Amino acid sequence: MRATMCILTFLFLLLTTTTTAAHGSSKCKAWLVQSIPTDMPKLAPIPGVLSTADVLQWLAGNSSKSLDIIAQYWQLVPRPSDSRSGDYGYSEEELQRFGANEGLKVYKALENAANRKVPIRLLQHSGVYPDYTDEPSNLASGRPNVKNVTLLLSDWWGSGVVHAKVWISDSRDVYIGSANNDWKSLTQVKEVGIYLTGCSEIAEKVEIYYNNLWKLAHLDVSAYTRSVWDQQWQINRKVPCWSHFINPKERCRSPLPKYMEVAHVSGYPVLSDPNMSHISIETPGVNDSFSDPQLSYLSFAPPELLFGKYQTDEQAWVDTIKSVAKGGTVRINTMDWLGQSGYTKETVYWPSISSAISEVVFSKGAKVQILVAKWAHFKNNTDQHLKSLLYSNTLCSSSEDNHCSGKVEIKYYIVPGYNSTGPAALNGAATGNTYPGYTRVNHGKYAVSDVRAHISTSNLVWDYFYTTAGVSFGTYQPAIVSQLQEIFNADWTSPYAVPVELLEEGHACSS
Ligand SMILES: *[C@@H]1O[C@H](CO)[C@@H](O)[C@H](O)[C@H]1NC(C)=O
Ligand SMILES: *[C@@H]1O[C@H](CO)[C@@H](O)[C@H](O)[C@H]1NC(C)=O
Ligand SMILES: *[C@@H]1O[C@H](CO)[C@@H](O)[C@H](O)[C@H]1NC(C)=O
Ligand SMILES: *[C@@H]1O[C@H](CO)[C@@H](O)[C@H](O)[C@H]1NC(C)=O
Ligand SMILES: *[C@@H]1O[C@H](CO)[C@@H](O)[C@H](O)[C@H]1NC(C)=O
Ligand SMILES: *[C@@H]1O[C@H](CO)[C@@H](O)[C@H](O)[C@H]1NC(C)=O
Repeated sequence: MRATMCILTFLFLLLTTTTTAAHGSSKCKAWLVQSIPTDMPKLAPIPGVLSTADVLQWLAGNSSKSLDIIAQYWQLVPRPSDSRSGDYGYSEEELQRFGANEGLKVYKALENAANRKVPIRLLQHSGVYPDYTDEPSNLASGRPNVKNVTLLLSDWWGSGVVHAKVWISDSRDVYIGSANNDWKSLTQVKEVGIYLTGCSEIAEKVEIYYNNLWKLAHLDVSAYTRSVWDQQWQINRKVPCWSHFINPKERCRSPLPKYMEVAHVSGYPVLSDPNMSHISIETPGVNDSFSDPQLSYLSFAPPELLFGKYQTDEQAWVDTIKSVAKGGTVRINTMDWLGQSGYTKETVYWPSISSAISEVVFSKGAKVQILVAKWAHFKNNTDQHLKSLLYSNTLCSSSEDNHCSGKVEIKYYIVPGYNSTGPAALNGAATGNTYPGYTRVNHGKYAVSDVRAHISTSNLVWDYFYTTAGVSFGTYQPAIVSQLQEIFNADWTSPYAVPVELLEEGHACSS
C-alpha cells in the first residue's frame, strides 16, 4: 500500500499471483545474493543473504529442461599460466587463498548440466582480454545440447557490450545481478544480485529478452541498422532500424519475435505505463517476511530491445529514486558514476540520474546516499561529476526562500588491496601485486528507497542505458527492500567507505 497506491493509478496491473511451475506447487521465493571479497574483516555480515557461488551452482544443478545464460565474458577457471591474464604468476596456494576454487565448482556444475543433456544456451560479448569465450566454446564443443553465441552490440549501436549477468533455469529460477561469470566475481569482487526460484512469471519475461538478444545475434546487422541524428542526446549514432530515435516514417518493422509496437510511445524513455506484475514473493532469507502480493517489475536496456512493453532501465532507476517518501532516504550503489557517456565517439551529457536525485532533495527533503567504487580502473573524471552533484546541497540552501531540507551524501568505497592488483609477474619479473587484475572493487549496481528496491546489472554511465545490454529486477516487496537497505548500510557505515567532500567556498583549490 502506502506510496505504491499513487503509482497504481497510472500503472496497469498485469494479472496475478500463483505460479504454475511444472515441478509441483512451488511458490515464488526470493533471496538477495552477495559476493564478499576475502580479507574484508571489518564488514558486518547480513544474515539470510546467499552467496553468489552457491546460487550459480544451484541454478546449474537444479536445471533439467533448460539453462540460459547471458554473460559479458567467461573466466570461471583461473588462468595462472596465461601471461595475458590478470591471474598470471599466482601460485596454486595463492589462488586457493583467493577462493578461485569456487569458480571451478561453478564451471563443474555447468559441465554436469551439459553432460546431463540439459539444453543450454550461452550468449556473451566477445573480445574481452585475453580470450574470454573459451569456456562457452569448450562447453559447446561436441555437445549438440549446448549452443553458444557471441553478440557484438557495437555492430548494432556503434559501441557497447552485452553487460547483463543473467541465469535462467527451467524457465522458473533466475539470477539477476552484478556478478560476471568469473571466479573473481565470487570471492574477489563485491557483488549484489537476486535469486528467484519458482518464479515462472518473472523467468518467462526475462526469457523474452533473452530470445530477442539471441535473435539479434543471428540477424544481418547491415540490413537492420541506420546512422541517425539522435535528437534527444544530440549526437550522430548508429541504432537498430526500428529504434524510436528514428523518424517514425523511416523506421523499419522490428524483426524481433516478441516485439509489440505501442502507438502512443514516442521516443524513449517516456514509456509511462509499463506493466508491473503483482506477485506474491516469499523471502526465506528475511525473518519478518511479508507475503502479500507486491508490485514487481523488470526493466531493460537498450530501449530498442524492450519490445515496446517494458520500462527502460534508465526510467526504472529514476522512478526508484522518485519513489522515496517525503523526508525519506534513497540509497544508491554503483561501481562507476559519470553524468555523461564514457565510451562513445561523441560525448553525451547525461543528467538523468543526478537530476532525479536533486529533484527529491529539493522537493521531498530526501536524503540520498551514494556509494561509488574507487579502484584500479577508476574513471578519472568521476570526482568532478560527483562534486557537481554535491553542489546541489549548496543550491538547496542558497536562498532563504528555499524550503529545501534534503541532502546528498557521497562516499567512495575502497576495497583494501585495490591499489595492488594485476598479474603477479610481467616479462619474467615479479610485479609486487598482491591480488589478480580487475579485483578488489565494489561492483554492485542497485538503488533502494523506503519502498522500492531496484537490482541492476548496469553502472550509472550513459552508455549502459543506450548502447549496452542490461537487465534489472525491481520490487516493492518490503522484506527485500529492508534487507537491501541493510546491505547498503553495512557498507556505508564500514571503514571501507570514505566521504567525498565538496571544498567549502573560500578554500584554496589544489590542482
Ligand atoms: C498491460 O497489461 C494489460 C492486462 O494484461 C494488457 O491488456 C495491456 O495490453 C498491457 N499493456 C502493455 C503496454 O503491454
Ligand atoms: C532470524 O531470527 C533468529 C532469532 O532471532 C536469528 O537467530 C536469525 O539469525 C534471524 N535470521 C535472519 C535471516 O535474519
Ligand atoms: C537446488 O536449489 C536449492 C536452493 O534453491 C539448493 O538448496 C539445492 O542444493 C539445489 N540443488 C542442486 C542439485 O544444486
Ligand atoms: C561456439 O563453440 C564452438 C565450439 O563448439 C566454437 O567453435 C565457436 O567458436 C563458438 N562460437 C562462439 C560464437 O563463441
Ligand atoms: C587518468 O589519470 C591517470 C593518472 O593521472 C593517467 O595516467 C591516465 O592516462 C588518465 N586516463 C585518462 C583516460 O585520461
Ligand atoms: C595502497 O593504499 C594503502 C592505503 O592507502 C597504502 O598504505 C599502500 O601503500 C598502497 N599500496 C600501494 C602499492 O600503492
